[in-house]
Amino acid sequence: MKIFIDTANLNEIRAAKQLGLVDGVTTNPTLIAKEGEPMEVLIRKISEEVEGPVNVEVTRSKSEEIIEESRVFSSWGNDIVIKIPITEEGLKAVKILSTEGIKTNVTLVFSSAQAILAAKAGATYVCPFLGRLDDISFNGIELIRQIKGIYQNYDDIKTKIIVASVRHPIHVIEAASIGAEIVTIPPTILKQMVKHPLTERGIAQFLEDAKGIK
Ligand code: G3P
Repeated sequence: MKIFIDTANLNEIRAAKQLGLVDGVTTNPTLIAKEGEPMEVLIRKISEEVEGPVNVEVTRSKSEEIIEESRVFSSWGNDIVIKIPITEEGLKAVKILSTEGIKTNVTLVFSSAQAILAAKAGATYVCPFLGRLDDISFNGIELIRQIKGIYQNYDDIKTKIIVASVRHPIHVIEAASIGAEIVTIPPTILKQMVKHPLTERGIAQFLEDAKGIK
């Protein structure tokens, strides 16, 4: 399973990178705005910092404008992926961009119907938002399971699933159990995944007992 870090904060990205367990970065307009830095400057810095895909979301709605924006964003690093919300205009843009070799990530996906169209349009990635479904009492992981099951039926579907809007480590475990290729997680969840109270208790006991080693 690949793990992308879901943040535009350079310090958080650097800290995650030092763990050596991060395969890419996802951002979105909310995460970019939080940093208070010009988008191009920030994305170029992140691209310098990270080996792996850096996802940048478009802010235009018409397909021609999305395509224009995508071509510009793609020049900001050597592995830029363009996040495009699932709309008719967005799908038109994904189709054209896929013929130009520009990697795309169809995002804000909340149904398998949307995921089917994203794959048909030739999206490199699809981003179903697990947590936002759970937040409104829908069973988000069932969507992930259904998308994975559908995609597995067709050899010509090359679109990879990035499980997004992850709220806790259980979401990561469930996504991995289903076989989702990638999860994108906030830095806090990466830290949570490392910790277990019994591990900490065991380390303390071993270190205490180690004092008695001759
Ligand atoms: O990249 C998508 C992700 O940032 C959305 O997460 O917590 O805003 O639902 P959230």
